[in-house]
Amino acid sequence: MADRSKRLSTNIDGNFFVDSTCINCDTCRQLAPGSFIENGEFSSVFRQPEGEPERYQAYQALLACPVGSIGVIVPDKAQMRAATESFPLLIDGEVYYNGFNSEKSYGANSYFVRHPDGNWLIDSPRYMKRLEDFFERMGGITYIFLTHEDDIGDAPRYARRFGAKRIIHRADADAQPDAEWIIDGLDPVAAVPGITIVPVPGHTDGSMALHVAGRYLFTGDHMSWDREINGLRLATVYVWDEETLRRSAAKLSEFSFEWVLPGHGDRMQLPSDRMKEELRRLLQGRSGACL
Ligand code: SF4
Ligand SMILES: [Fe+2]
Repeated sequence: MADRSKRLSTNIDGNFFVDSTCINCDTCRQLAPGSFIENGEFSSVFRQPEGEPERYQAYQALLACPVGSIGVIVPDKAQMRAATESFPLLIDGEVYYNGFNSEKSYGANSYFVRHPDGNWLIDSPRYMKRLEDFFERMGGITYIFLTHEDDIGDAPRYARRFGAKRIIHRADADAQPDAEWIIDGLDPVAAVPGITIVPVPGHTDGSMALHVAGRYLFTGDHMSWDREINGLRLATVYVWDEETLRRSAAKLSEFSFEWVLPGHGDRMQLPSDRMKEELRRLLQGRSGACL
């Protein structure tokens, strides 16, 4: 839990606050954009949540914060319980955002996909009994897809618990050398019906995206939605190779998708032709900062 003695002075007065242990991962700003804002090197509360939906979102942010930097002076136990029970959060169809982001992956978002040939975990949340029980109820985890070396989180522990196969690219495999399935080269790999692994080097040498059911694209830190430019953006900070990054983005034009579901940055849904148009605009030169 956050420490009141470390409360940042940039917070507006009131119940919710951010302390100086914040690692500026953006998770709270994604979950509760009406309350949290980036302020220099940290997040802070710029407006106290008002009303039920905003308070609920602020508690979700508090729970998802990977380092426990968000505090409340007077906790509302019922709201906290409701927010806890909201995770994993159904996004669409059989796709969930797990919440409980892990400090080990710098607060990256992780996802769960239910699939008739075995369920998928995309990157890894903190190891939580609540999540373990949820995955169990949904039929376990067959594959753990690691988008890149930064977002391993507690994948080894989930893999052991569920006997899941961890998938990572050879170029990033130093981060998980005992992974059960190592992907080589640049060609897309049809993993199971409806799911394709797409190597997208650039942010790291071994970054990969996952294309699911012709609708969802899990992008790791390769590409995300940027709320400021209201468009897609590519990683420009911590980029292994800029030219390769752009070539990888161009490769994604071959795929049709409505959803962009990143590790860091905002997720977005648009009709697939609009998403294609956004990708085209991005490739024509628009880019922004990304982790
Ligand atoms: S979720 Fe936590 S660590 Fe991440 S930006 Fe918000 S307060 Fe900081
Ligand atoms: Fe990364």
